[in-house]
Amino acid sequence: KEPVKVALLGCGNVGAEVVRLLHEQADDLTARIGAPIEIVGVAVRRLGRDRGGLPVDSSIFTTDALGLVKRDDVDVVVEVVGGIEPARTWLVEALSAGKSVVTANKALLAEDGGTLHDAAARGSADLYYEAAVAGAIPLLRPLRESLHGDRITRVTGIVNGTTNFILSSMDATGAGFGEALEEATTLGYAEADPTADVEGFDAAAKAAILASLAFHTRVGAADVYREGITEVSAADVASAKAMGCTIKLLCIATRTGDGGVSVRVHPAMIPRTHPLAGVGDAFNAVFVEAEAAGQLMFYGRGAGGAPTASAVLGDLVAVARNRLAKTRAASESAYADLPVRSMGEV
Ligand code: HSE
Repeated sequence: KEPVKVALLGCGNVGAEVVRLLHEQADDLTARIGAPIEIVGVAVRRLGRDRGGLPVDSSIFTTDALGLVKRDDVDVVVEVVGGIEPARTWLVEALSAGKSVVTANKALLAEDGGTLHDAAARGSADLYYEAAVAGAIPLLRPLRESLHGDRITRVTGIVNGTTNFILSSMDATGAGFGEALEEATTLGYAEADPTADVEGFDAAAKAAILASLAFHTRVGAADVYREGITEVSAADVASAKAMGCTIKLLCIATRTGDGGVSVRVHPAMIPRTHPLAGVGDAFNAVFVEAEAAGQLMFYGRGAGGAPTASAVLGDLVAVARNRLAKTRAASESAYADLPVRSMGEV
């Protein structure tokens, strides 16, 4: 069978891991899909960097991402660059032309997911983004497929590993925020500029994506009430402990009594008996409540090259199979335009 031809945009931690896993598992994946997957181009910011012996020919590297996306022989575009532009331009171009897209770009989906979904509808193209929220944890597919017959009422999650590491460490050692952040930085959990994590921006973007899928509506990052963890003190953690609780940075998306939705991210005290209380280290977990299914919990690694690449590959297999079957995933574009309530209105 003709190979499914893939353009990879970005070759950092996740992209390199995607290349490695595709190479390692080539025979299995070919058997599972029914055709081989071939990376025909890799777009990077700079050529000539040492890429640690990646199993691809260096001649397929390019700095012209848009040119690569536009190539007639490209079937699938995998984007692991992140950020709003130029990623949006590349993905809209791909989707409008009927190319399948797999992306890990939570910022873009949370800021302007509607534009991507509209382009996918225009091009009758697949748009998959399991890796955008909670890395390796199969979460978006269950929300958009398995639970589609049910009515989700509430999603409560720990979706940022860096802040969960910091809060877990404060809880375990009695350290203050600054000291715990320093430890997270030393161990490589927190980035040099930890603002997006500790101020809750990363979690808010993920919350917007989860709420949009859970409630079939469009929630953007700007609709999410957001509070980070920089003000959480050792004394706060100690008083929570004294009450049999722990403090977690939660994203909470609920339906409101008046037919709207409320989506928020903030530190919250939860009883130690709550299933999310035991989620330590840099793990993520998402607790979903649905009318018929009841309570469900999704748990695992929310970040890192290999876990995120696992989610990307899962999507890649799905879109490749769809292409061979000449079908696409059912459209998940929002059909309910639910008002998003601010905290004061909840
Ligand atoms: N900075 C994020 C986290 C990475 O700490 O969870 C995954 O999006």
